[in-house]
Amino acid sequence: MSFAELNSLLKDRHSCRAFLPDPVPRAQIEQIVASASRVPSWCNAQPWQLVITSADETDAFREAMQNEAVSGAPAPDLPFPTSYSGVYQDRRRACGWALYEAVGVERGDRVGSAQQMMQNFALFGAPHCAILSSPAELGPYGAMDCGGFITAFTLAAQALGVATIPQAALATYSPFLHRYFQIPEDRLILCAISFGYADPSHPANNFRTDRAAPSDFVEWRG
Ligand SMILES: Cc1cc2nc3c(=O)[nH]c(=O)nc-3n(C[C@H](O)[C@H](O)[C@H](O)COP(=O)(O)O)c2cc1C
Repeated sequence: MSFAELNSLLKDRHSCRAFLPDPVPRAQIEQIVASASRVPSWCNAQPWQLVITSADETDAFREAMQNEAVSGAPAPDLPFPTSYSGVYQDRRRACGWALYEAVGVERGDRVGSAQQMMQNFALFGAPHCAILSSPAELGPYGAMDCGGFITAFTLAAQALGVATIPQAALATYSPFLHRYFQIPEDRLILCAISFGYADPSHPANNFRTDRAAPSDFVEWRG
């Protein structure tokens, strides 16, 4: 693959927030997972573990997850960011507003934005969901390795025409996820990745985020 091909994969990938119900063939999901596992990890520990749902299992989980989001108490395994300030707050707001504008939620419409937020727990209609966990004993570096895995998963999926969205929102209810999927307590639930085929006509998929210029984040020495 050329640099240009890699770059267009990176540029074309985006988070999908409305999926068609059509399932992804199991062989393709296996290809995506195997491809993602080529990422580096400290000591080659490969800390990622996935539970991947399909078909009825996704629908049952979707329903249980939505119920949990209404009645459960937030208790993420990994501490959520304590705040976003400066450029981080600006970027967070910009991508939130771009989404709300795309789906027709006015600024200040708390009910509309909450409804859109709740779509997370409906997995945005995706036919598949992967729950990603890392051994607690590997701490933040295990989570860091898994971050690379998430990126590679999204890119491998993109190469096969499969749309994805990483979702930390689901990890808000980590105790529920441990119980529901029998994920041992010595593993940290990091996030979910919902995936399937994008609904291109849905407004939630009709905006793109931008990126800071390298000059904003690289300090050259020498
Ligand atoms: C670890 C991680 C967790 C995320 N969690 C959520 C989430 O819970 N809900 C959501 O709508 N998007 C989530 N996203 C998607 C980001 O909002 C998205 O990647 C970012 O706005 C850049 O947009 P793009 O993916 O379309 O390029 C998450 C992304 C990452 C990498």
